[in-house]
Amino acid sequence: MTEKKEDIDQALKKKLKPKQFIKHPINGTKYTMLVSSAKGGVGKSTVAVNLAFALQNLGMKVGILDADVYGPSLPKLIKLNEKPKSEDGKALIPLEKYGAQCMSMGFLVDEQTPMIWRGPMVISALKTMTQKVLWKERDVIIIDMPPGTGDTQLTFAQEVKVDGAIIISTPQDLALLDVKRGIQMFDKTGIKILGLIDNMSFFKGDDGKEYKIFGEGGVERTAKEFNKEFLGHLPLHQDLRDAADKGHPLTHSDPDHEVSKLFTGIANKIKVSFN
Ligand SMILES: Nc1ncnc2c1ncn2[C@@H]1O[C@H](COP(=O)(O)OP(=O)(O)OP(=O)(O)O)[C@@H](O)[C@H]1O
Ligand SMILES: [Mg+2]
Repeated sequence: MTEKKEDIDQALKKKLKPKQFIKHPINGTKYTMLVSSAKGGVGKSTVAVNLAFALQNLGMKVGILDADVYGPSLPKLIKLNEKPKSEDGKALIPLEKYGAQCMSMGFLVDEQTPMIWRGPMVISALKTMTQKVLWKERDVIIIDMPPGTGDTQLTFAQEVKVDGAIIISTPQDLALLDVKRGIQMFDKTGIKILGLIDNMSFFKGDDGKEYKIFGEGGVERTAKEFNKEFLGHLPLHQDLRDAADKGHPLTHSDPDHEVSKLFTGIANKIKVSFN
């Protein structure tokens, strides 16, 4: 009887013990960086992809991993819609475009197929994309995160070895509220924040005047408040949006464009943290 009770006690203790997670590195890369923001539609995917090519322009070998399982953007942003191949039926060979290796849930499903999945299926898809993709000799993999602080963020925080994260926001108060949540999530989960980027900072009119449509200085102030680095401003610019819609990111199609140069400036700051 007592033996049985002891067994039950042991089983209960095991069950109640906090689960130990193992952080797996993404193989085939030296550095893994998240591009994030708790808020949707602030330009994460646009910045992630343009930053990737800005880093490539600096001589780095880059990979882009689109971690937005429900709403993948990468196929459209780089105009690529092929199915990744697998030699052993388990590991996926990333696709290559404009010199970068790329992976997205969008390559695996039809463009208009909605992903009506519960959390565990998303987690399982993310594990495949982080552990079963044959990235080759990359200096950095840039991960375009979905909005929010949900399953995807938690999976990366607990189960993937991440070297750093950058946070994108517009200067609008509504977006900044989510940024603060995002900062605290990374701080709590021990992911180093490399810095904050202020996207859609201003719009330059034909009159040469800068219009601060979403407000001014908010991202910089938030960076200061939380003692994080501020990485730079990016304007609201039609050429950036046009290039994205055409599937040829501005930093690759026109590296000398004034906006591409701003990405280069940010890429130079980020590159320093890779050592
Ligand atoms: N600096 C910019 N100038 C012009 N358009 C931009 C800029 N940044 C983003 N956009 C446009 O804003 C829209 C949203 O951008 P994007 O899809 O990159 O945001 P997101 O944060 O990844 O969204 P989601 O949360 O849905 O993943 C897109 O149409 C994109 O082309
Ligand atoms: Mg996105």
